[in-house]
Amino acid sequence: MQPPLPFRQKVWGEGLLTSVLLPIFTLQSLHMKPLIAPSVLAADFANLQRDVAMINRSQADWIHFDVMDGQFVPNISMGVPVCQAVHRHARKPLDVHLMIVQPERYLEAFREAGADIISVHYETCIHLHRALEQIKMLGCRAGVAINPHTPVSDLEEIIADADLVNVMSVNPGFGGQKLIPNTFNKVSRLKDLILRRRSGALIEIDGGVNQENAAGLLAAGADVLVAGSFVFSAPNSEEVIAALKATVVTREV
Ligand code: DX5
Ligand code: ZN
Repeated sequence: MQPPLPFRQKVWGEGLLTSVLLPIFTLQSLHMKPLIAPSVLAADFANLQRDVAMINRSQADWIHFDVMDGQFVPNISMGVPVCQAVHRHARKPLDVHLMIVQPERYLEAFREAGADIISVHYETCIHLHRALEQIKMLGCRAGVAINPHTPVSDLEEIIADADLVNVMSVNPGFGGQKLIPNTFNKVSRLKDLILRRRSGALIEIDGGVNQENAAGLLAAGADVLVAGSFVFSAPNSEEVIAALKATVVTREV
């Protein structure tokens, strides 16, 4: 089963345009609009339906769903039943980020719980290629997440098989942390790798994203901005999402 067509066209159409078509025709710049993925980790869990409805009304593109197991990361967050509950109310694709050991054991369960995109951590997968293939076989987009210490060069042989790279811009496990400054350089190097390998992978930034760093991240090559506390701690979350979405950056291609 594939994700709904409008989703595929909207989300991955731009990647194809950037990586394959435009370089053939032009050296012009391209005005990019980022994809925005509010992270429900920062939502009010006692009012989850209300907060998902807010994301539905907003200009957000995806809903980011963080799964933590208390082993790969020190924290425990949400699992399959909560994913199902969010999916029942969500009108936007569910972007599931698995911060768990042996994520292969839960891919099918999260697909059945409504995941459209599933990212597994490079650091947790002995057989990463197999895990990505399994995710695609389930009809999801397949993402690889990398911790702040993991070099971009470790993705050399897998980048062509990934639909998404989640660049952790904080150490995974908690919301509300400050973005690690090395992220900007790392994203530029990842963008170069993606273009060199002719990969269609989108670059997602996860952790500490706010209005101050959004433009720099996009200029470096990011496509998707995850934002948790910046969105949910604001008096008007919809306005914050709209402001992030309006961070238009001219990127040379
Ligand atoms: C951190 C999670 C993030 C988190 C981001 O381990 O992967 O998705 O929700 O939250 P903020 O935007 O508050 O840093
Ligand atoms: Zn995340």
